[in-house]
Amino acid sequence: MSLFQTKSIELLQKEAASDAGLRRTLSKMNLVSLGIGAIIGAGIFVLTGQAAAQYAGPAIAISFVISGLGCLFAGLCYAEFAAMIPIAGSAYTYSYATLGEFFAWIIGWDLILEYLFVSPTVAVGWSGHFVAFIKEFGITLPLHLTQAPFDYVNGSLISTGHFINLPAVAIVLVLTVLLVIGIRESATFNNFMVVTKVSVLLAIIAFGVWYLLSNPGLALANWTPFIPENTGVYGEYGWSGIFKGAAVIFFAYIGFDAVSTAAQEAKNPQKDMPIGIVGSLLVCTALFICISLVLTGMAKYTDLNNAAPVVNALQAAGAPPMLRYVVEVAALAGLSSVILVMLMGQPRIFFSMANDGLLPPVFAKVHPRFKTPYVTTILTGIVSAIFAGFMPLAILGEMVSIGTLFAFVIVCISIAVLRKTRPEAHRPFRTPFVPLVPILGAGICLVQMYALPGDTWLRLVIWLAIGLAIYFGYSRHHSKLTLAAKR
Ligand code: ALA
Repeated sequence: MSLFQTKSIELLQKEAASDAGLRRTLSKMNLVSLGIGAIIGAGIFVLTGQAAAQYAGPAIAISFVISGLGCLFAGLCYAEFAAMIPIAGSAYTYSYATLGEFFAWIIGWDLILEYLFVSPTVAVGWSGHFVAFIKEFGITLPLHLTQAPFDYVNGSLISTGHFINLPAVAIVLVLTVLLVIGIRESATFNNFMVVTKVSVLLAIIAFGVWYLLSNPGLALANWTPFIPENTGVYGEYGWSGIFKGAAVIFFAYIGFDAVSTAAQEAKNPQKDMPIGIVGSLLVCTALFICISLVLTGMAKYTDLNNAAPVVNALQAAGAPPMLRYVVEVAALAGLSSVILVMLMGQPRIFFSMANDGLLPPVFAKVHPRFKTPYVTTILTGIVSAIFAGFMPLAILGEMVSIGTLFAFVIVCISIAVLRKTRPEAHRPFRTPFVPLVPILGAGICLVQMYALPGDTWLRLVIWLAIGLAIYFGYSRHHSKLTLAAKR
């Protein structure tokens, strides 16, 4: 059989309409909230300040606009697919319908980089915030229990002399249990977390605007020069710094695409998927641009290179001490919902791949009572917990970004391809200005991929090579499409 055999849109739509065993309980608002839950996290609370300090200066706001545009264009393409083929496999399924099985496998394998690796990365951030938070109340956890035994420094693996990052393991396992129990319960927890973090971000913006209006001279001084002059090194300020900043803070936007993995649990996916994906993205883009402006207005960008830039900028501006605790709680809430939604996405992609025969059937098992893909949820939770507890994570964040960008590029290309090959197919939502929007989306994502370190590219290639070995060793021979054609 051809490597590029495609699954027909009609077959996929039939599968989407049939009872996959999952429970359809998610409303429009739940979907928007899942998107916001997955997006707002370590990126805005930590990376923004660091990227402003090291690469873009106050112009980090422009980096947010550039990266946000790339995401918006890709998000519109996701929205068209998610409404047309509302299957949990997301980009994996979309490429199965357009570019064929081989590309679908590559993207399915690539998405593991996003969903499976983002959870431990963010869990380690959560642990750092948790340890700092309880310290405020005089509780100190031993270092042996809050640090992984290995670290990755200057290209080599070193022993840290510690045992395990226990809080990171604990948060992953707790959220895994919640996800096994039910999608509705998980969505309710997520809603609480989202309300907490969005309210706090709005409070920070309100405080910042008030402060900047009261001290216009200071704000002006902090924002000047808005684009600091390039130092002569690529990526250190100037326009190259803005692009490097965009590639780094792209991490902050990751997550809106996770909404599409909930397609088979949405009450009305045709109408609500585009609202969930594009709606959450627009809300977060507006919040991010405001926060980045406020942050670089309250503190000099050079002072933002630390582990808690938002809290420190507020302190520098003389915010009431209470606000610091509130921001810490919001960061904890923010990070836990990112972990939750990403831990939700991975099992659903495995679920679709197993339904197609590309992974063993056990990956598609749904719990008889909870109606959740419990085997893959537990597997995802355990692997994430091991990474979170024991592995050096410095490199994982960049792997997550390159993996996600790659998936976005493929989704953009697939939209343009499908408009040509199946112009007549029913599309409940249409990406505007095709092929311009997909071309721009893919282009901006490629520029951001280019700005990531060369090592990350090498790791991506190695990861994909491992995936190919599994494809040719197992998946190709078990593909339901192949087996059906042989019959
Ligand atoms: N966007 C998510 C975060 O910033 C992954 O934590």
